[in-house]
Amino acid sequence: MFLALTEKANAVVKQHFSGVDLNAVWTVPKESSFGDASLSLPLQLASKLKQKPRDVAQIFVDALTGADGIEKVEIAGAGYVNVWLTPAGLLRELSQTREACVPAVKREKERPVIVEYSQPNIAKPLGIHHILSTVVGQTISNLYRHLGYSTVAINHLGDWGTQFGKLAVAVEKWGKKPVEKMTLGDFLELYVRFHDEVEKDETLEDAARAAFRKLEEKDPALTQFWQIVVKTTMREVEAVYERLGIHFDHVHGESFYQEKMQTILDEGKKKGVFIEGEKGALIAMFPEKTGMPPAIVLKGDGSTIYHTRDLATIRYRIDTWHPQSLLYVVDVAQQLYFQQLFDMVRQLGWELPLLEHVVLGRMRFADRSMSTRKGNILRLQEVLDEAVTRAQKIIDERGDSIQTDDPRALAEMMGTGAVVYGIVSQNRKMDLIFDWDKMLSFEGNSAPYLQYTYARAKSVLRKAGAEGESEMPQVIAALTERERILIRTLLQFAAVLEDARSSHMPHTLANYLFGLCQDFNAFYNVDPIVSAAEPQRALRLALTSMTARVLKTGAEILTLRVPERM
Ligand code: ARG
Repeated sequence: MFLALTEKANAVVKQHFSGVDLNAVWTVPKESSFGDASLSLPLQLASKLKQKPRDVAQIFVDALTGADGIEKVEIAGAGYVNVWLTPAGLLRELSQTREACVPAVKREKERPVIVEYSQPNIAKPLGIHHILSTVVGQTISNLYRHLGYSTVAINHLGDWGTQFGKLAVAVEKWGKKPVEKMTLGDFLELYVRFHDEVEKDETLEDAARAAFRKLEEKDPALTQFWQIVVKTTMREVEAVYERLGIHFDHVHGESFYQEKMQTILDEGKKKGVFIEGEKGALIAMFPEKTGMPPAIVLKGDGSTIYHTRDLATIRYRIDTWHPQSLLYVVDVAQQLYFQQLFDMVRQLGWELPLLEHVVLGRMRFADRSMSTRKGNILRLQEVLDEAVTRAQKIIDERGDSIQTDDPRALAEMMGTGAVVYGIVSQNRKMDLIFDWDKMLSFEGNSAPYLQYTYARAKSVLRKAGAEGESEMPQVIAALTERERILIRTLLQFAAVLEDARSSHMPHTLANYLFGLCQDFNAFYNVDPIVSAAEPQRALRLALTSMTARVLKTGAEILTLRVPERM
């Protein structure tokens, strides 16, 4: 942030505190009464050098006072330095915002960041809760990529496990058409039926286990059945991804790790990490202070489980990509599971990247009928359709106040966007609330509001014939209150992106964009743009153009599309 100011402050460090390894970081104060930029560096310097903070701050004040682009400098609080910039000084700093809109050049030599997200289970449609991991994960991956990290986006399909044995039994017993002809709905129905029937007939459970064993042993008929189920599922899942703009670099199922588990089991046994349990099972134990129960990695009947496949997955990822970090965007319900997993790999002594379970809260529904619906799975595809229908209704109702050449495309963008934004704008660690009215509102913190604001900015630029990049004027005598507020917000974009990335909290970016929309609309409502006299007109067009770019860049990172007209 604040390139010119940073240079000036670092020069002070070099001159007065040479040899101290500290760099200036300016931030935008929350309240405009504290100026345009604030520096806490004097406090850090003072504590390092055992000097009085206010004395150190005074050195900065003396050096910065009267410098080009600076209007006023003050010491604040214990030893902060607050700076008020001249209009020209502020406008100059905006170049960093323009740069932040362009994806950074990929740092090829750096180790990649792996982001694993979505992870649907085969033979089941995507449910509404899948949207959480899917869009939060995609956004985190987009943030890393935009900021120049080499990024590997991975989908880890739940395509292996005893549930396939159950499905195979159910299809054989109660299936009414050939597997190739079955839909995901059919599979789901059969799966539910299996669970009903098993209550009356326990032998079904054994049959299912036997079928899965046969699949593990590569029985040709069962393998073919399994392949068809995977294909049918992926056809539907991919249609949803397409609709939401979700992209992966690699899609691997748990089945991919089948052959890669034995060596790890052997290694763990040799290192004493896995110990023999009942009937030849293998288990891992954890330090007492963690309070974690033991975890099974190999069952008595020789079959492997979820943990075993994840161990093999980590090994594979380390060997293939040598990542600097490995992020799992997964529901809070699996917290203990991941803690156990990470502890196992620590015990195995592997050279590890940073491992993080990016925890997601549960989803709750404002509309009770959604949580109590029968069939216990609310399909994401249906929720998106419903959102688009509702968006279409709003467009129809608003009539001429909405401009569009293609109302259907706009409804799709608004409806799917509303659901996506409804998710990414909430703190992922808390329970997420699904609320139709809030998501589709034109006034609140919602996709339609953001989309509408973007389209409004673009319409101003069109009207002024200034659709290209607008030149920021260099000299402006004074700024209006609203221009100043808008500039201060625009100045924060780069830091917001960095913050959302490092904390893995996409909602901070969403909230920032919401604030930017409010600041832009306040400015738009009061300061005339197209009809203003020069150089104010050029300034206002440049601010409008920059607002539009920041909104579009930010929205796309959040996997949200914005319309040119609305
Ligand atoms: N497919 C799993 C589920 O839906 C989530 C997978 C999470 N990722 C992992 N590497 N275990 O429960």
